[in-house]
Amino acid sequence: MNRNPLSNEEKDRLIAEAKLVRERAYVPYSHFKVGSALLAADGSVHLGCNVENGALGPTNCAERTALFRAIADGQSPRSFRAIAVTGDTELPITPCGVCRQVLIELCGPEMPVILTNLKGDRTETTVGALLPGAFLLPEDDADPFDRVK
Ligand code: THU
Repeated sequence: MNRNPLSNEEKDRLIAEAKLVRERAYVPYSHFKVGSALLAADGSVHLGCNVENGALGPTNCAERTALFRAIADGQSPRSFRAIAVTGDTELPITPCGVCRQVLIELCGPEMPVILTNLKGDRTETTVGALLPGAFLLPEDDADPFDRVK
C-alpha cells in the first residue's frame, strides 16, 4: 500500500478530474451534480459521477461510482491513495453516510479525502475522521488493512 503523502500536483489533478467528470452526472431529480476522482496506488485515476434513478433508492453517489468502477477495473481494495469530491456547494461538499461506510471498507481509515466546491474551497480530511467508530465485520476489525492482499 502506498501511503506516500500526496503532492500538490496530485491533489490539483484529482480536483480537476472530479470537476470534469461532474459534468457527466445524471441528475434529473436533484439537479445536483457531483464528481469524484480516486487515485490508485499505480497512479491511475478512477472517476465517478452521481447517477440517479426514478425509484430513488438505486441512486449512486459520485464517490461510490468511482470506487466501484476502480474495483471492477482490477484495483485492489485498500490500495487507494486518495479521493477528491466536488459539488456546487457553499462549503466544501461532504460525503453521505452510505459512501462513508463504503470508503472505510474499501480504503481504510487513514486514506486522505479532499472535499471541494466549485469556488475552490478545500477541506482535507481522512476516511476515519469522516466515520469514527465504523462498523466492520470481525475479521476486518482485527486488522483492517490485512483482509485483501
Ligand atoms: N451526492 C453525491 O453524489 N455525493 C455526495 O457526496 C453527496 C450527494 C448525490 C446523491 C444525489 O444524486 C444528489 O447528490 C443529491 O443528494
